[in-house]
Amino acid sequence: MKKNQGNKYWTNPYVAYNIYPKLVKVLTKFLEPGWKILDAGCGIGNLAKFLPSYYKLYGCDIQKSALAEAKQLKKYEKIIYADLNKKLPFKDCEYDAAVSVEVFDYLSDPWFSLRELARVVKYRVIVVVPNYNWLKFFYGSHKLPKYTKHTLDFNVNFLINLGKTCDLNIEKIFYISNKFERFRNLFGNWLASNVGIVYKK
Ligand SMILES: C[S@@+](CC[C@H](N)C(=O)[O-])C[C@H]1O[C@@H](n2cnc3c(N)ncnc32)[C@H](O)[C@@H]1O
Repeated sequence: MKKNQGNKYWTNPYVAYNIYPKLVKVLTKFLEPGWKILDAGCGIGNLAKFLPSYYKLYGCDIQKSALAEAKQLKKYEKIIYADLNKKLPFKDCEYDAAVSVEVFDYLSDPWFSLRELARVVKYRVIVVVPNYNWLKFFYGSHKLPKYTKHTLDFNVNFLINLGKTCDLNIEKIFYISNKFERFRNLFGNWLASNVGIVYKK
């Protein structure tokens, strides 16, 4: 992907994607204190700003400028350049868990990437993506959104099938919304901004 592509949308969680406080409430139920966690596609470190400091957090991304910003937060044990479309530079079971927020929708082969993340963790991989159930009506299927390079319509069915293909157990499916949550909840999970899944090895 191009350097800085869409970066303005990723740099300020308060403007675009402030799902992190709600997300962290879910994550902490599945990630045990003291665990070594890989933030896969960490960007500028939005998740790190909200995740409790009792985790040993490692961040990796393909965008060097974002990694430099993430490093300045001093919330990560280590920041690593890694391409999730390729074999990861980590040993089998090197981490306890991996969390990937708004990243899988940029990957060319999410099946390969999920297998790789599953290889490098002992217990769980948690993936959160935009919920394209409704977004596609605004932007059109497979053309989502202009500033990104999304190639697939991610929704809960996609995530379930992704896990099954990769021989992972599905422990939990959850929905989060960034803005207008009360209004969105009137329609069940349909209008939620994000859908997440907890895969267990
Ligand atoms: C929407 S941002 C999300 C960043 C971060 N997870 C967050 O929640 O703020 C998408 C991130 O995925 C990263 N990314 C895209 N393709 C990647 C790849 N092949 N390998 C690693 N990171 C990738 C981008 O560089 C960017 O930082």
